[in-house]
Parts: sequence; C-alpha cells; structure tokens
Amino acid sequence: MPATMKRDPELGPTIFVLFGATGDLAKRLVLPAFYRLAQEGLLPKQWLLVGNGRGDVAHEDFRKHVRDALGKSGLKPAKKEWKPFAERVLFAGGGFTSDSPGSLLDDLAKARKALGGDPQLVHYLAVPPVAFEEITRALGQHGLASNARVVYEKPFGTSPQSFRSLDRVVHSVLDEQQVYRIDHFLGKEATQDLHTLRFANGLFDAMWNRQHVESVQIDVPEKLGVTDRAGFYDATGAVLDMLVTHLFQVAAEVAMEPPATLGPLDLQSAREEVISCFRPLDPAEVVLGQFDGYRDVPGIAAGSTQDTYVAARLWIDNDRWRGVPFYLRTGKRLAQGQRIISIAFREPPKSMFPAGSGVSAQGPDHLTFDLADAAKMSLSFYGKRPGPGMRLDKLSMQFAMHDTSHIADVLEAYERLILDAMRGDHTLFTTAEGIERLWEVSTGLLESPPPVRLYDPGSWGPNAIHQLIAPHAWRLPFERVWRDPNTAGN
Ligand code: BG6
Repeated sequence: MPATMKRDPELGPTIFVLFGATGDLAKRLVLPAFYRLAQEGLLPKQWLLVGNGRGDVAHEDFRKHVRDALGKSGLKPAKKEWKPFAERVLFAGGGFTSDSPGSLLDDLAKARKALGGDPQLVHYLAVPPVAFEEITRALGQHGLASNARVVYEKPFGTSPQSFRSLDRVVHSVLDEQQVYRIDHFLGKEATQDLHTLRFANGLFDAMWNRQHVESVQIDVPEKLGVTDRAGFYDATGAVLDMLVTHLFQVAAEVAMEPPATLGPLDLQSAREEVISCFRPLDPAEVVLGQFDGYRDVPGIAAGSTQDTYVAARLWIDNDRWRGVPFYLRTGKRLAQGQRIISIAFREPPKSMFPAGSGVSAQGPDHLTFDLADAAKMSLSFYGKRPGPGMRLDKLSMQFAMHDTSHIADVLEAYERLILDAMRGDHTLFTTAEGIERLWEVSTGLLESPPPVRLYDPGSWGPNAIHQLIAPHAWRLPFERVWRDPNTAGN
C-alpha cells in the first residue's frame, strides 16, 4: 500500500456487483481498478465481487477472464497475490432483468451468507446506456435496491428524452443519495489539481477571469480507434461519449466560481452552476468528423454517419467569462493521444520592446495542464536571452508529479471513483440536475448537427477546425516538448 494511504475503517462488508462483467469497459478499466484497490489495501476488510452477464460462465472461467484483463492492463499478479483475490470473485450468469434474474439472486444470497451481517451492495453498471433502465427496474423488483449504491457509467441517457425517462426510473427505485453517475475525468487526480492550484494560490486565483484570460482549450485527441467497442461507439459517437460528458465537466472544473467549501454539495453545485451559464452550443460553431475507414471497422453499420470527432467553441455567459472562448476538441485515430487544458493569458502592452526583439512572436503566455494520471503543469513566459542586446525567448516553468515522492500515491481515476462510491462520497459525481443542463446545452447540436466531415487517420481532424479557432490556434501539436528533467540541456 502506498505509504500515506490507509483503508477507511468505517468501510463495512461490501459486495461489488459488476453488471457487464465480461464487457470491454469492465475488462479495460473497472476490473484493473478494483484489483489495484485490493492490492493497495483500500477495499473494505470484507468484500466479494460478483460479476454478472448474459452468458453462463463458471466462476473459475470468470476468474481466468479477470486475470487476462489484468494482464492486458499490465498487471501481472503473482500467485500469492492472485489466490486470495480470486477466491473472492464469483460470476452470476443468465443476465438480469425484472422477469428473469438469472442466477444473481441465488449467488448474492450465498455471498451475503459468506460475509455475514448485512453487507452493503455496490452495483456497478458497466453496460451500454440502453440497458440502464431495465437493470434499475430489476434491482427494485428483486429487492436489491436497499442498503445499496448504484454506479452508472456515462453517458447517462442518449438524448434529452431518454435522460428524462431514465431519471424517472432511477428515482422510482432509488434515492438520489444512492446514485453515483460516473464521469471518470472528474476522478482524475490532475482534475482536482485544477481547483487546488487556483483556490489555494492567490497568483492564479487573481488571474482566473476575462480580464486576464484570452481563451481556453480543452483538447483530448486520441490515437485509439473503436475496434473493441464498435457496437457501443456506433450508437454513441464522439459528442455523447466525450463532449457533453468529459469535456463539459472539465470545462466546468476550469470555470466554476469558488465553492463555499470543498464538501461534496458545494463542489457539485459550483460545477453545476457554471454549467447553467454555458450558452447552448451553436451548430455553426461545431465541427464534426469521421475518420476515413470507420465504416470498415467490423461492427460499424454500413454507411454510418456517426461522428468520431468533435471540436466546439463554447461560451460561458457569466461575468467572469463573458467573451472568452472555450475550445473543446476530441476525436479517435488522431495523430497523438493527449489530455491537455491550456489557458492563454492576455498580452500586456509591449511598446517598449525594440522591433525584432521577439516579444509576442510565439503567442501568448500559457498555463498548461496535462491530465495524465501523473499530472504535469507548465507556465510559459517570455524571458531575456542572456548576453548583450534585448532578445526574448519563450521559456517555461514546469512541474511534474513524477518528480515528487508522492507519485506512488496517485490513484487512477476509476480506482478513486470506485472507492468514493463505496464510501458514499458524492464529490466527484454528477447530479441529475447537472446532467439535465448538459442536455439542454447540447440539444440544438443534437437536433441540427453540422455535416460530418471525413478526416485521415493519423491527422488532427478536418481542416475546418482551423477556421473554428481563428484568430487563435490549436496548441497541439506542441512546438516544444515537455521538459524531461533527466535529459541534460533543456
Ligand atoms: C471514455 C470514453 O469514457 O474515456 C472513451 O468512452 C475514451 O472513448 C476514454 O477513450 C478516454 O479516457 P482516458 O482516461 O483514457 O483519457
């Protein structure tokens, strides 16, 4: 266990029920995160994991599946670590609906008996959004909603109408306090660095407004394609998968007003209040794209017009941000995989610098965040080149979490959020009202989307993104790479 982390002694016996346990999301993210929590000693002392899916998979085969999934995430448990973990992993097959609960009820009855007392249930819905309503109803119908918390993957609904219908079902079965709508970008350690940097440091707090900020970019290009999850992706697309979920939440983190405290209610409402100031997206300020070859991916509908790319200009109509464009961009099969927030500062008058000094020549000063698990930050500025005369160069101050002794304590986003859901901490989850507002901001775009333009895999997307951002320019690809302290001479 990392030196400074300790198991929460209040965490009672817990059964973690993973719906969609053999699916892609469980394999890539949920199971590895759960295993890491176990290894770090952060799970409750007594726990069991019960996977659920449509197939009839023997417990032992499911354990093999879990071990494979861990392997693919680079986790190779040694026998002595694996055995005590695997013993607590079960599979309940046959699906789970109101009419037919499969073997889940029997398996849970056994699991409860094995743990004793009245263990809490944490249901994790790692299933496509269309399955949320039915599983929620079934939880109510089969008595699995009491002493339970339910974690919903995103997107929470696939349209404003389906959101409302899902929300009604959810609230007919569960209290809001039992509901955890996940957006794993909020769980990234680096996302929390954003509000810490700003609210703990007068220098940044003072600069965080339209007087000093010229524009903001939230840019998450991905090299990844959609091969392993074609069905989910073709029904979802970049706008729902990333824009109205992750990118909007990160924009809210950047733009929120200072909360009264860092408690769950205050932070949630600070994020959601600023979302209520997002101007509804104008389709003329959005570029959609699809990478060439998308339709040939097995599982993608012939002739699909689904977007795999979106770039948007967002305006926030409040006193702090009026007139400051927020550029949001993400897409699949792009030139690089990055997760960048970049804040460009307004330039001061510089008439005293001689012509040819290089002042302004490399754009405005930027504060840049890399939202990787091991966060990085950089503040760029103009400085004098040593020697006679006045020549300016763009320099930077950089911080990398990797260089600190705390790097081992960083929890990956899914680990953090699974742990928070078990502990009943809502700080990094979204509320129904907050999500409803996100849908309102996106309705115009969803109803009248701009044309989906083709782009080449390995590129930065359709050309129209440059007009969208003019007179500014996309920060990526960076002109200068992040400094590596272990490399001399930079
Ligand atoms: C997921 C999306 O929520 O986030 C994926 O469904 C995307 O399409 C992923 O690749 C990106 O997350 P991260 O943490 O890898 O940047």
